[in-house]
Amino acid sequence: MSQHEGNGRIQERDESRRSIRRRSGGRRVTRPAGTDSSVALLTEGYLYGRNRFERAGGDLFETRLMLRPATVVYGADAARMFYDGDRFGRERAMPTSVMHLLQDEGSVQSLTGAAHRRRKSLFVELLMDDAAIADVQSVYRNEWARAVRTWTGEVVLHDELVRLLTRVALRWVGIAPSNVDVDRLSGDLIAMINGAGSFGPANWAARARRRNAERWARDVIAADRRESERLRLSGRKSSPADVRQTPLRRLANARGDDDRPLPLEVAAVELLNVLRPTVAVARFIVFGAHAMNRWPGWRRRLRTGATPEQDALLLTHEVRRCYPFFPVIGGTATRSFEWRDRVFEPGDWVLLDLYATNHDERIWGDSTVFRPDRFRDWDGDPFTLVPQGAGDAASGHRCPGERATVAIMETAMLELARLDYYLPEQDLSIALNRFPALPHSGFLIGLLPPARARGRAPSPLG
Ligand code: HEM
Repeated sequence: MSQHEGNGRIQERDESRRSIRRRSGGRRVTRPAGTDSSVALLTEGYLYGRNRFERAGGDLFETRLMLRPATVVYGADAARMFYDGDRFGRERAMPTSVMHLLQDEGSVQSLTGAAHRRRKSLFVELLMDDAAIADVQSVYRNEWARAVRTWTGEVVLHDELVRLLTRVALRWVGIAPSNVDVDRLSGDLIAMINGAGSFGPANWAARARRRNAERWARDVIAADRRESERLRLSGRKSSPADVRQTPLRRLANARGDDDRPLPLEVAAVELLNVLRPTVAVARFIVFGAHAMNRWPGWRRRLRTGATPEQDALLLTHEVRRCYPFFPVIGGTATRSFEWRDRVFEPGDWVLLDLYATNHDERIWGDSTVFRPDRFRDWDGDPFTLVPQGAGDAASGHRCPGERATVAIMETAMLELARLDYYLPEQDLSIALNRFPALPHSGFLIGLLPPARARGRAPSPLG
């Protein structure tokens, strides 16, 4: 991959950005980006990129989306180009409808370079160390046991998991669920996730829910800051060990580049940046349930096999690889460089197709076959399995919650495999043109109390 720093070598600057510059045989040529393919994206959904890469026979194609020229790329080399070396920022990298729900002004995702690395280190410390991971797993187990005790008859697994994971996330960051209107907060958080792929009134409604959650988060941060101050004034904080440094407290006391506490709004947004995606893990757990239903041998391996923990990890990776979640991640070029004979300039919009990379035949072989055992000899290359971004989480934009996601899913898969349930009649299909995807029914399960189970046909799940 060749790369050129600075603008010196780019002669044909097109200020209107209505055309795409390419290099061909050492010569730069200009060609129009073609017609807008927003409708095709909405119709073909997650398969939009794969269909075109197949036709183009390469790992890059140029198009227009929402009237804006875009280059779509996929594969491990593309992921390396996209994530290594600070080539891309996230400003104007997502449609506003998505941006307003999933990130915000001043949040970690909106930052670049040194400011991003500094803020990111906070997330890495809070979310990625061994103690945080063990903690989230233990909280999950505890909340799962609590929730299952209350389930009777038939329940929609996704809805239950959303409430459960809201409680997990709260306890994980150090907020007692008993002090929170959990139903309302979980409704706000899932509205942001569900609404991310919507436009118009549905999107506006989700934004209103987001504003509710932001107000709540600001109050929580402000109250925690007051509590820190009270402890400081009372002299009880003679050493940092005197104050329990919950993730909430560390977020509330985090400082910005000016060494002052983060503005209240920014700290609140960052709190939501931990709570909301933790709740989003519900989708992956439901996909895991879907996989265990479709390939019941995996459920048996987790339930009665010799190596359930190891198998839960294999299953978790394959579920995250195969099932649809984030379709693409967008970036805006921060400087000039060249890749695949194509010159990129500052401001160019590039989309890395995560779904297509996770189904890239060159990496995975039989990519559409669900085969968790493929991860037995996976080398762990950070540019191949990319449902949560690629590269290094500490220095780039890769998701800092990935370790926690995997840990929660492993625990959830094991607990679910051990639960006795049956599947009532329902529509389990997953529409690939709905962002973000979910089985149509939300995965309805029926609980089998021993007394009711007698006389019923055996569970299809074994
Ligand atoms: C449902 C599972 C999850 C998925 C599919 C997911 C996916 C992603 C993706 C695709 C990105 C964007 C990477 C980029 O901009 O290049 C991201 C970033 C991020 N994720 Fe996750 N994530 C998940 C879970 C989590 C969890 C559990 C947390 C926190 C507890 C979390 C916190 C974040 C944060 C703070 C960022 C911004 C990172 C940055 O810009 O440097 N995510 N995630």
